[in-house]
Amino acid sequence: MRLGIVGTGSYVPEKVLTNFDLEKILDTSDEWIYTRTGIKERRIAEPGTGVSELCKVASERAIAAAGLQPSDIDLIVLGTITPDTHCPAGANWLEAKLGCDNAVSFDVTAACTGFIFSLHVASALIRAGFNKKALVCAGEIMSRTVNWKERESCILWGDGAGAVILTETSQGAEVLSTHIHTDGKNGRELLMPGGGSLTTPISHESVDKGLHFLKMINANTSLRTAVNHFADAAMEAVRTSGYRIEDVDLIIPHQANIRIMEGVARKLKTPMEKVYVTINKYGNISSATVPIALDEAVRDGTITKGKLVLLTAFGGGLTWGSSLIRW
Ligand SMILES: CC(C)(COP(=O)(O)OP(=O)(O)OC[C@H]1O[C@@H](n2cnc3c(N)ncnc32)[C@H](O)[C@@H]1OP(=O)(O)O)[C@@H](O)C(=O)NCCC(=O)NCCS
Repeated sequence: MRLGIVGTGSYVPEKVLTNFDLEKILDTSDEWIYTRTGIKERRIAEPGTGVSELCKVASERAIAAAGLQPSDIDLIVLGTITPDTHCPAGANWLEAKLGCDNAVSFDVTAACTGFIFSLHVASALIRAGFNKKALVCAGEIMSRTVNWKERESCILWGDGAGAVILTETSQGAEVLSTHIHTDGKNGRELLMPGGGSLTTPISHESVDKGLHFLKMINANTSLRTAVNHFADAAMEAVRTSGYRIEDVDLIIPHQANIRIMEGVARKLKTPMEKVYVTINKYGNISSATVPIALDEAVRDGTITKGKLVLLTAFGGGLTWGSSLIRW
């Protein structure tokens, strides 16, 4: 079966938070943040907005780009670690907001690899004959998970959503392969201790301890681990499909830190010109960085017909994965 992406869409909130804004509330500087991370600014969702709202706009754009109606979609897979609520799932809110009344919808939790995991799951369900037209979306409001007093981590994150439409098709971009991996043993480096059954109901004590915040443990080690997993996943996708890394026209990595991306490019012996970068303007939007970058690369003409596009990501869990697409 030839599976293809027939539409892409993305959305980031309008509110911009620059490094200079952060200088006013934290002991930090634009120079430190930019040289250590590549980030200049990030987008922040308005209070009272849930992630399904961001995903709705991204998804409507993807559905329109595919020339479809919401009623044509029969599967919604949403990669997110910041759903509106844990019950109902974020995808259920999205389904209702889009009016996708013919779809079954659920979330996939795989942190920054959430989009690639979702693409893998949707591909498998279509290949198995259960579904025909999937909306694969990833969205996050990371700004609500961080401790804005913790300068090591709050500077990294931002908000946004991206989406694609996946279906069997003889035309358009072909998804050649998807690959996913996890390592639960070493999953504690990127941890949100609160919000699950372990700390529910929320107590004064858990809030006082800041258990509801995302924590980065050994951020430096995670930089090195990330480069290795990103590069391994990239090579797995390329080799499985019978290509060489030199054949790839564009790499869209998860945008966690420009130094990770440069490390991956060095490891893959690929020039940075082939690496699509959005981290300067959006920071790390966890699962959403890859589909947002993919949509922007399609819309700004970087991705044109025939180009070989490699997606690769790594994140909490640990999770990592890749996908090779012939546009
Ligand atoms: C967080 C990160 C940017 C820090 O960069 P780094 O080069 O590792 O920086 P270091 O840990 O060496 O810290 C250097 C110094 O800057 C200080 N510092 C930390 N955050 C700062 C900030 N926002 N502004 C100014 N100084 C800061 C530290 O306190 C430390 O000070 P010290 O030397 O006096 O102790 C980087 O490790 C990172 O991006 N990690 C995350 C990796 C990741 O995203 N993984 C994948 C997730 S998907």
